[in-house]
Amino acid sequence: MSKRVAILISGGGSNMVALAQSMTDDHPARPVLVLANSADAGGLEKAADMGIATAVVDHRPYGQDRAAFEAKLSKTLAAHNPDIICLAGFMRVLTAGFTSQWQDQMLNIHPSLLPKYKGLNTHARAIEAGDSEAGCSVHQVTAELDGGPILGQARVPLLASDTPETLAARVLPLEHQLYPAVLRRFAAGDATMVNLP
Ligand code: GAR
Repeated sequence: MSKRVAILISGGGSNMVALAQSMTDDHPARPVLVLANSADAGGLEKAADMGIATAVVDHRPYGQDRAAFEAKLSKTLAAHNPDIICLAGFMRVLTAGFTSQWQDQMLNIHPSLLPKYKGLNTHARAIEAGDSEAGCSVHQVTAELDGGPILGQARVPLLASDTPETLAARVLPLEHQLYPAVLRRFAAGDATMVNLP
């Protein structure tokens, strides 16, 4: 039986689209839900166009009450009975209460070569540091922000002329290759590291 995948987004959802489009034919998983923390997330319409169920759990009415927001998030997810949850540009920090509830079932894509540059502004920080390469990582989600076991990485050379925008434009297409490659392995029960290119 196919694994059921829920994808969490906050924005345009290009990684969500890449994941959803990959789950066809002999792929061991299928998308069952795309959930956003804002009704404005552009990816919601793309998901609906692909025939995937969508939901919104807006974090704003909960203010500082992360536990209440995450309880609603979990309840909405549980209603779709996911085996795997993919964070794909989901820009809310999740507490240990939530991550432990979905332990070993949750993946995230992060635009840096982890363990470098957890958090925000990853490309600017790689440029600032004078790194010779940059890239993206897919990892399992634990209570430590961007700190769970790494399941895949893709690398690009960092050019002297790079800005955060030019670097992001080169890394994003790699994210679209890396995340589906890792998800396919993970859904098949294989946690071997994926290295691209
Ligand atoms: C992607 O670059 C993803 O790696 C990043 O947000 C972007 C979402 O784009 N995620 C993070 O920064 C998580 N901390 P998308 O909505 O087009 O997939």
